[in-house]
Amino acid sequence: MQRLTNRQILLGITGGIAAYKSAELTRNLRAAGADVRVVMTPAATEFITPLTLQALSGNPVHLHMLDAEAEAGMGHIELARWADLILVAPATADFMARLATGQGNDLLSTLCLASDAPLCLAPAMNQAMWRDTATQHNAALLSERGVQLFGPGVGEQACGDTGPGRMLEPMEIAQRTAEQFDAGLLTGKTVFITAGPTREAIDPVRYISNHSSGKMGYALAQAAADAGATVKLISGPVNLAEPARMQRVQVDSAEQMLAASLEGIEQCDIFIAAAAVADYRPTAVAEHKMKKGKEEVMELHLVKNPDIVATVANHAQRPFTVGFAAETRDVLQYARGKLARKKLDLIIANDVSRSDIGFNSDQNAVTVISAEQELELPCTPKRQLASQLIRLIADQYHSQ
Ligand code: PMT
Repeated sequence: MQRLTNRQILLGITGGIAAYKSAELTRNLRAAGADVRVVMTPAATEFITPLTLQALSGNPVHLHMLDAEAEAGMGHIELARWADLILVAPATADFMARLATGQGNDLLSTLCLASDAPLCLAPAMNQAMWRDTATQHNAALLSERGVQLFGPGVGEQACGDTGPGRMLEPMEIAQRTAEQFDAGLLTGKTVFITAGPTREAIDPVRYISNHSSGKMGYALAQAAADAGATVKLISGPVNLAEPARMQRVQVDSAEQMLAASLEGIEQCDIFIAAAAVADYRPTAVAEHKMKKGKEEVMELHLVKNPDIVATVANHAQRPFTVGFAAETRDVLQYARGKLARKKLDLIIANDVSRSDIGFNSDQNAVTVISAEQELELPCTPKRQLASQLIRLIADQYHSQ
């Protein structure tokens, strides 16, 4: 079931008595880490309320093609593109017939036509309907086209008959859905990533900070989620939207970032420190805005901040720990020193003297350094670079 972590499942529900089991199926899929959006046919709403599915999926339920409100939230074409997989459970005989003939006469059938995502059906109907030649023909046609049929099972039916046509149990459907996905490089792993700058308050209106935009850390978090990891993104103040499929914890100061990093560290498999943490903070924060005095020079007293990545790397239950090194000269030499001093498994060195890479740019060029080897990755958009880095980190993690 770990293969469902971060997967985007569009769950279609059609009008059959087994629709009540879709509530449990939604819970099973979410418990396995999937993001679930539910689409119901009008008939399905006669068997179970959209509100139940909304509460269980945590997302608005989509009902009609021409619902202006739903289209404003996520339009049907966007929804079709969003899905990593479409699962229709229960799938009635009527729905299978409409799919087999390529009809798009409601939202769900339209989405099935409009999406390139794999399509899986869990048929549920009376045994005579399932045995009917037309249904068997439609089932065979759909299978030929690559549609996966989960079941139906055989047994006692709601109408009192016994035979084939029962919808499989929700847990089995969730299991079969998980099997449709390859395991990602980080499936089942928990990754913590720090990103962005920290702000160290001087008084209520002023602070010490730096130029980090958070783009590198956010791109890494996205790439780790794409690789199947459960991601906690610990972010300093940035102007970036909350990414989907992960937990974001927002902090201001280095001390807050340390506390958020250590919370749940025992569950963390890989820690990546991409944040630009202020090395020092004012010894005291003035209670009120500091007033300009007569003196020409003002002294600010600073105290060292805790080193977050070094604290994590020296933790009794340390995860595989990766740091960054932002340097303006002797980049590789300083990075190697930090790798050893902070006891890291890997360090990613970037030259922040260049304005086209590093801080606040959309691309970066780095050298990945471990005790054994060094690998140069040329200038690439941060999103692409993040995917390369996550692959490298996952390989090193698995080979340790
Ligand atoms: O955010 P962007 O605009 O996309 O820019 C990306 C970046 C340049 C910020 C990023 O690629 C980067 O280099 N991040 C690390 C910046 C930094 O603070 O480097 P450092 O060499 O000062 O620190 C070394 C390592 O120790 C870093 O992993 C840092 O997160 C960590 N550290 C530093 C100080 C501290 N008190 N605690 C820490 O954990």
